[in-house]
Amino acid sequence: MIVLFFIPLFIVALAKRLLSPKQTKSIDKKHVVVTGGSSGIGKSAAVLAARKGANVTIIARNLERLSSAEKEIAAACIHKDQIVTSVSVDVSNRKAIQSELDKLEEKIGPIYMLINCAGMALCGKVEDFTEQDINTLISANFLGTLYPIQSVIPKFKDRKEGIIVLTASQVALMGMFGYSIYSSCKFALRGLAESISMELKPYNVSVTLALPPDTDTPGFENENKTKPEETHLISQTGGLLAPDTVAEKLLQDALVNNFFSVVGFESFILTTLCTGMSPFASLLELMIQSVLLGPLRLIGAYYLTSFDKIIQKCYLTKQKSQ
Ligand SMILES: NC(=O)c1ccc[n+]([C@@H]2O[C@H](COP(=O)([O-])OP(=O)(O)OC[C@H]3O[C@@H](n4cnc5c(N)ncnc54)[C@H](OP(=O)(O)O)[C@@H]3O)[C@@H](O)[C@H]2O)c1
Repeated sequence: MIVLFFIPLFIVALAKRLLSPKQTKSIDKKHVVVTGGSSGIGKSAAVLAARKGANVTIIARNLERLSSAEKEIAAACIHKDQIVTSVSVDVSNRKAIQSELDKLEEKIGPIYMLINCAGMALCGKVEDFTEQDINTLISANFLGTLYPIQSVIPKFKDRKEGIIVLTASQVALMGMFGYSIYSSCKFALRGLAESISMELKPYNVSVTLALPPDTDTPGFENENKTKPEETHLISQTGGLLAPDTVAEKLLQDALVNNFFSVVGFESFILTTLCTGMSPFASLLELMIQSVLLGPLRLIGAYYLTSFDKIIQKCYLTKQKSQ
């Protein structure tokens, strides 16, 4: 009898939790730093942050691209006194990035949001990567995300607020022909994001891991130049998104404290399938994942088989031509 009394109460409490909208944090007049903000997804994120009233700092190395992006971002500002600035520094240089971020805090104000978008991809078969290529990929994608994060965390903890975004990739969830080194770096970002998300929760600092699919950016154009045929063919099975679309979802997810930021149905399937022990954003998300995980394994198996077929076909064609 007592159990029967509690069941309706439980259902009402659950429904309330599921249906209550998530509060969106505001970045109006807050300082937002975007690494890789001079191009592609980072530039789009910086423009969107400016449109939301934030003081925006972009970080990259090439001065010309920084200056042209700064103008584009400034044009998107909605307040007269909004500050847009840029810093040329290599994010994988620990001392330099720490010092620049410290200076920015003094000059512009406390950093509220750090969006890590700096990164790059090189493709190829694992045995063909030179030591230099490997170091470049690890520096740009892993160390270049870790060091800015390490620099801001003590201040975020002191202030008991902050938002950190790490930009990984769909190949942070699954390995893919041609992406061995890049994918390893992006897998590492998932481990980093999950760990710091746990460490920072008591300090009211949120962590979002963005997992963009193929996105039409200068970086993607460069990546295409190094793709083996197999990787090209597998990539063609998915679509190509606009950087603005990816950046908009990234900001939206980060501002409502979602751990994963994904765009599109295929990304949703992959993320749900690989969710494992990752943080969940809401009870609703947890329930959807619990129900879908089993059936999605079968859909995943279908994709894997079709990728294997593409690779086998390329292998046989090459064998014949030899
Ligand atoms: N485009 C895609 O299809 C795609 C898909 C999944 C994930 N991603 C990820 O999304 C992020 C942005 O990619 P994107 O396609 O927008 O690339 P992008 O157009 O090439 O932009 C990359 C930005 O990062 C900066 N950067 C690179 N290395 C840096 C370093 N060591 N120090 C400071 N800045 C550095 C670049 O400027 P400088 O070269 O002047 O320094 C540029 O501003 C990357 O992490 C990428 O791996 C992209």
